[in-house]
Amino acid sequence: MSLGKPLPHDAAPLHVTGQARYTDDIPLPAGALHLAFGLSTCAHGDITALDLAAVRAAPGVVAVFSAADWPEMPDCSPSVQDEPLLAVGQVYYVGQPVFLVVADSHLAARRAARLGCITYAERPALLTVEQALAANSRFEDGPVVWARGDAAAAIAAAPHVISAEMEVGGQEHFYLEGQIAAALLQEGGDMVVYSSTQHPTEIQHKVAHALHLPMHAVRVEVRRMGGGFGGKESQGNALAIACALAARATGRPCKMRYDRDDDMMITGKRHDLKIRYRAGFDETGLLAGIEFQHLFRCGWSQDLSLPVADRAMLHADNAYHLAHVRIESHRLKTNTQSATAYRGFGGPQGVVGIERVMDHIAHCLKLDPLMVRRRNFYAEMTEGGLSAPRASGAPPEDIFAKMKAGAFRAEASGTGRRYGAEHSPQLEVAQTTHYHMPVEDFIGRALVADLERRSDYQARRAEIARWNAASPILKRGIALTPVKFGISFTLTFLNQAGALVHVYQDGSIHLNHGGTEMGQGLFQKVAQVAASVFGVPVLAVKITATDTGKVPNTSATAASSGSDLNGMAAQAACVAIRDRMAAHLAETHQISPEAVVFAAGRVGVGTAEYSFAEAAAAAYQARVSLSATGYYATPKLQWDRKRGAGRPFLYFAYGAAVSEVVIDTLTGENRILRTDILHDTGSSLNPALDIGQVEGAYVQGAGWLTTEELVWDDSGRLRTHAPSTYKIPACSDRPPVFNVALWERPNPEATVGKSKAVGEPPFMLGISVLMALSDAVAACGDGTIYPALEAPATAERVLWAVQRQHGHV
Ligand code: MTE
Ligand code: MOS
Repeated sequence: MSLGKPLPHDAAPLHVTGQARYTDDIPLPAGALHLAFGLSTCAHGDITALDLAAVRAAPGVVAVFSAADWPEMPDCSPSVQDEPLLAVGQVYYVGQPVFLVVADSHLAARRAARLGCITYAERPALLTVEQALAANSRFEDGPVVWARGDAAAAIAAAPHVISAEMEVGGQEHFYLEGQIAAALLQEGGDMVVYSSTQHPTEIQHKVAHALHLPMHAVRVEVRRMGGGFGGKESQGNALAIACALAARATGRPCKMRYDRDDDMMITGKRHDLKIRYRAGFDETGLLAGIEFQHLFRCGWSQDLSLPVADRAMLHADNAYHLAHVRIESHRLKTNTQSATAYRGFGGPQGVVGIERVMDHIAHCLKLDPLMVRRRNFYAEMTEGGLSAPRASGAPPEDIFAKMKAGAFRAEASGTGRRYGAEHSPQLEVAQTTHYHMPVEDFIGRALVADLERRSDYQARRAEIARWNAASPILKRGIALTPVKFGISFTLTFLNQAGALVHVYQDGSIHLNHGGTEMGQGLFQKVAQVAASVFGVPVLAVKITATDTGKVPNTSATAASSGSDLNGMAAQAACVAIRDRMAAHLAETHQISPEAVVFAAGRVGVGTAEYSFAEAAAAAYQARVSLSATGYYATPKLQWDRKRGAGRPFLYFAYGAAVSEVVIDTLTGENRILRTDILHDTGSSLNPALDIGQVEGAYVQGAGWLTTEELVWDDSGRLRTHAPSTYKIPACSDRPPVFNVALWERPNPEATVGKSKAVGEPPFMLGISVLMALSDAVAACGDGTIYPALEAPATAERVLWAVQRQHGHV
């Protein structure tokens, strides 16, 4: 059985030897042309003149296009047709494509693109959320509000109240392979597109729309991406459409690759936002009521901003039961890049808000933040009853207030699953999130308790306090933060997938599905699923490029659901073929099909035994079909986005991290000293790949909140558009002590191999670094001033926060 084995990434040898073929490595037929955009230098204005004579005259230029050349401008938006490929009359941000250059080399196209002369009549630009709010510039009529209970009354009645505003920065995806596409014109005007995309069907759909072709005339292929991280769900549309249009216009193969600076100037990033909160709580840190306001800076077009901001609202609770809560979410339209999907899809922005509140409450009450967190956790469902650990004191009444008879039945035998409730073993409790989804699978308490033990949290906390008392310049800090992340697309219909499997007569297996590979190891996981169905080694399974001609109507590989969805679809296809083989062999040997066993590359049929290849050949000769499609649709989902109520997720993935940091109070410089993580992957399909995902996500999350600072100047120009000014974590920034363990308990839901999705949830574990920095900064003062660190907590911000502790600011 290859399922659950820690096999390396299928392409690891190709990656490290430089043989892995990315889109830019695909050899194009002779005569290929290269594309580049000419970009707006104005954040908002009318184009009053466009002089492209110098561009046309530049060496190597074959064609130049602008709005004047296309009476009907193709649209690139994944949502609402508000993204013209090239600016028409007006520009909306610095970096917006205004014209398109087609030249005989990449460099010639880029050089020529600099020669355009665009004249603007400037209009006032809305760059900040405050400006957008004041101008009521937004993507919906007003804010989206979800409420449960009466937050205002609960806060008013609470013994303690805090309120604050927190700035949370955006994040550049910094996929190592930039955005790229190539288009090859076929006979009869058909188009083949290679694209570095998480969403081949979207590329197919948008190209077909731009060319006025039916979708069957466009085929999109992607073997792999050099990273996507959400930045290739929609942001590749423009390149693919431009290539297809240019290929049709010139009859030659066309390729477009953004240079890194252009990539950062043109494409959207993680949404930055301001979070305003007001929370009421008691002496033990138990929340009574909480209000959040999310001010999302969405940029010039809608893109995926609405579902991203929704997911932030859906994760405003993280692991905590919010009895009385009101969340107000503003999706603000600004003259900046169109913010887009990024690992966590708004979830991290929601989670960081409530984690900040927990930290703030603990500081206010001079309690260990872990105690406050634990005080507010959802109740635990336990095997057999009462063992759920709770913080000292009675369980919060409100958790048990929402009892729904029969929702979760505690079995009389005592072996049933129910929530731990100290005061009544008979209690049947339905605890729900603020969007009324039952939390049936909470494991946060047990997982955190285990991590607390493994990381030696309590002893180290005491040791750090002693160390800090004797260290005037360097201060250390520690924090434990949990994560609970909902798995499924919140747009319910996207939760479907297909697969196509062929078994050849020599027993080799061709595997295809709708998911895309971006380094996360999806293809290897799905191959392991297929191999285990047939009982063959994973090398018998050929992993093939994602292709809209093989599996149609796919969803983006996103929402961490790639292996959940495609693994199930592939499994269904493999089982269909295996059942046909078994039925045939059973019939020839006069035994029941269930008695045919596929294992270790062999097929046992009663007393007879064949190699898998012999079994495949026998089935072929008997005219048994060895090809099948598979399909999967996630069950149980129903979600009313408008009301903010229902079951948007099949299940939750959990995890927790302890980070220890040290800061230099003279410079604000800081380091992570040690990290301990326990992360829930269900029964892992591949623990090696999953640990890689956890490590990478944590470091990426820490980068978001520490060094990765995006700076726009007053004219709306992004000044951090290269690695020289935008600092992603380097190898040397990973924690020197980095203990990652998987919490391998089977997913209670019927997922593939009882596994859980892992791509995004551990990103939020990076929040522990921000909270550890807060702890270290607090150690510089007398406990009266809350550090109130903004994100990213760059060295400058840490220094500033230290100065504030010293009363200098
Ligand atoms: N891991 C690598 N190496 N590269 C990536 O681009 N993207 C992340 C995550 N892990 C990414 C990654 C994001 S945003 C998502 S949604 C998931 O992988 C998508 O893949 P999955 O659904 O197969 O986990
Ligand atoms: Mo991931 S942000 O869902 O591509």
